[in-house]
Amino acid sequence: MSATRIDGKAFAAGLRERVGVLAEEFSAKAGRKAGLAVVLVGDDPASQVYVGSKGKATVAANMASFEHKLAGDTSQADLLALIDRLNGDDSVDGILVQLPLPDHLDEQAVVDRIVPNKDVDGLTPVSTGRLALGLNGMVPCTPLGSLMLLKDQLGSLEGLNAVVIGRSILVGKPMAQLLLDANATVTIAHSRTKDLPEIVRRADIVVAAVGRPEMVKRDWLKEGATVIDVGINRLAPAEGETKGRLVGDVDFGEASEVAGAITPVPGGVGPMTIAVLLRNTIVAAHHNAG
Ligand code: GUN
Repeated sequence: MSATRIDGKAFAAGLRERVGVLAEEFSAKAGRKAGLAVVLVGDDPASQVYVGSKGKATVAANMASFEHKLAGDTSQADLLALIDRLNGDDSVDGILVQLPLPDHLDEQAVVDRIVPNKDVDGLTPVSTGRLALGLNGMVPCTPLGSLMLLKDQLGSLEGLNAVVIGRSILVGKPMAQLLLDANATVTIAHSRTKDLPEIVRRADIVVAAVGRPEMVKRDWLKEGATVIDVGINRLAPAEGETKGRLVGDVDFGEASEVAGAITPVPGGVGPMTIAVLLRNTIVAAHHNAG
């Protein structure tokens, strides 16, 4: 059997287009564009690429993009002062601080400083708590995008066995919460889990978010399972290559022979993250303009 390839790129393009229409309607009504501020500290090349893509996508969706690129040795106090300014700036509806931050900065304290109604990344304690309580609020972009792909593929998730591999604040934990809210039966597995392949083999839905290249193999999967691969790992360059290949946490070639449907890397979950960020920003803008 060959799995259906879940086209996150196409789905994300559709979502970005719908958000673009909502953003035009917003600016006609509010007399200003919805605005997203992205804060980047330091010069990590991958983060620079992400931030650049976010800025372009924001402008393409008829919103205003404010990029704040700070030196790698920026102090905690200066960073918090910027967050305070953005919190109080009426042209800014959403604030995203690109993670990870350099080691000398207290990441949680920085994220906690963002006012909850501008927390488009869904990472503040208020957003995290609301998600845990099953209340409306901002939901982290990658897990929400993954849930959208799952619902598009499967319809109802009720009663399905879902295994989330990874327990990060950014993906694993909120993903488990969203699956639970959709009435799936959820297991969170992680680096200390015993008999991981056996646990994954019980899953109708597998979400892999561990950051281990091609870890999930063919014989870990139940026939027909739906596989969401959140990993983005760059392999060491093979001979003759200048850059290594990008691969997920799932061995795509092997898994495709067993799974019912699977997201590719790249072109699966990745494009959904930015599309959902724009969606969260327009939702925040409507709330903020009140
Ligand atoms: N770094 C990698 N992914 C993300 C994300 O979704 N949000 C933030 N803030 N930083 C990230």
